[in-house]
Amino acid sequence: MKRAAPVRVLSVFGTRPEAIKMAPVVERLRELPGVESRICLTGQHREMLDDVLKAFSLVGDYDLDVMRPGQQVADVFGRMMSALVPVMAEFKPDHVLVQGDTATSTAAALTAFFQGSKIGHIEAGLRTGNLGSPWPEEANRRLTAVVATRHYAPTTRARDALLAEGHPANHIVVTGNTVIDALLRVAEAVSRPGPVRSGLERDFAWLDPRRRLVLVTGHRRESFGDAFVRICEALRLLAARPDVEIVYPVHLNPNVREPVARLLSGVERVHLIEPQGYQRFVYLLQRASIVLTDSGGVQEEAPALRKPVLVMRDTSERMEAVDAGVARLVGTETGAIVQAVSGLLDNPGAYAAMAQGANPFGDGRATGRILADLLGDPGLAAAPLVRLDSGAVRLAAGTRLKRLRP
Ligand code: UD1
Ligand code: UDP
Repeated sequence: MKRAAPVRVLSVFGTRPEAIKMAPVVERLRELPGVESRICLTGQHREMLDDVLKAFSLVGDYDLDVMRPGQQVADVFGRMMSALVPVMAEFKPDHVLVQGDTATSTAAALTAFFQGSKIGHIEAGLRTGNLGSPWPEEANRRLTAVVATRHYAPTTRARDALLAEGHPANHIVVTGNTVIDALLRVAEAVSRPGPVRSGLERDFAWLDPRRRLVLVTGHRRESFGDAFVRICEALRLLAARPDVEIVYPVHLNPNVREPVARLLSGVERVHLIEPQGYQRFVYLLQRASIVLTDSGGVQEEAPALRKPVLVMRDTSERMEAVDAGVARLVGTETGAIVQAVSGLLDNPGAYAAMAQGANPFGDGRATGRILADLLGDPGLAAAPLVRLDSGAVRLAAGTRLKRLRP
């Protein structure tokens, strides 16, 4: 009897958050019989992506290597689309999977559309309703939705946003966010007594356990310039509190690094460190009292670890966390940031109320729901969570790496 041709699935990602959120999906895809799964790394991020690939033992089949120092959004888009054409022409994927709202995900979705593949959009339906904030992500996610054939919405609010735009209900599945799948597994590995945990404790022995740790990340393009200066000033003022210690892994974008280094280097109790590998960052999240961020992924992770998260933005596409009382939008004004952090540190009742809220972003089983829908096999949704044995998400060995340079 003739065997059915395998279903060809191409997963495309290129930035740090996409890699973290795609890792559980590509791992499962590789294990499935009847599926030929390939990974295309665009290389939109280089060092920050490589850290995640290592953490999850991921290997790409294609690497487009598009990153340039200080790259412009339109340039990176154009380079990726040109480089993706030969990859899709060679592999002829039945499905292309993209995640989120970066240049990588939208460039891949549009290329797949032009090349005639079906497109599964993971983390679909996030909206602020404002094309200027976040920029350019709000436009990216709307553009991807126009060409996607399956929309994997992390929450019912995201589903409702897609319905309101006229996407048919039977094209949308509410799955939870795959970041929770990745986080729970790494958090378990990081918490378990053993060599991983003791290595992290050794590496971070310089943290002062008597001080409250405020963990900071920031990189939004709409905050470049004045807003970053105001954020840095807020951190300087907060660090004047002797009971506080600030740890800030600084994003590699030069528009972030320049003001942060200029305004915060050498400030007592402010630790500027390089972007951290995922295990190390999850460890820092676990040690933090408060998370101060403009990151999308960190807004989703902090509530799952019961850490109050203060969001340095005026808008959010993740209002589920604000509604659940586990996150607050504090904007980018110096006074408002200082007041919000101090208010939580000084008011145990307010702190406990935020720390005890429910995580609205998923139960760690999003991957199964996505693949059940994509491959038309409901049994995949029920598959148990895979336990980690060493803190790394292992992939089948022997994957090929092809370099197709643009
Ligand atoms: C990108 C995404 C943003 C996402 C963020 C996650 C776009 C337009 N922006 O923003 O949606 O939230 O990633 O972090 O898709 N760089 C390095 N090494 C790296 C990564 C970046 O040196 O590993 C530097 C380079 O100078 C690069 C610059 O950062 O040119 C900007 O990178 P880019 O991907 O264009 O934008 P991000 O600010 O990282
Ligand atoms: N992260 C990390 N190391 C760091 C900072 C963040 O691994 O030093 C992880 C974080 O846990 C989250 C993701 O990176 O999963 C968020 O990425 P980023 O803030 O760059 O992008 P966004 O989510 O805003 O698109």
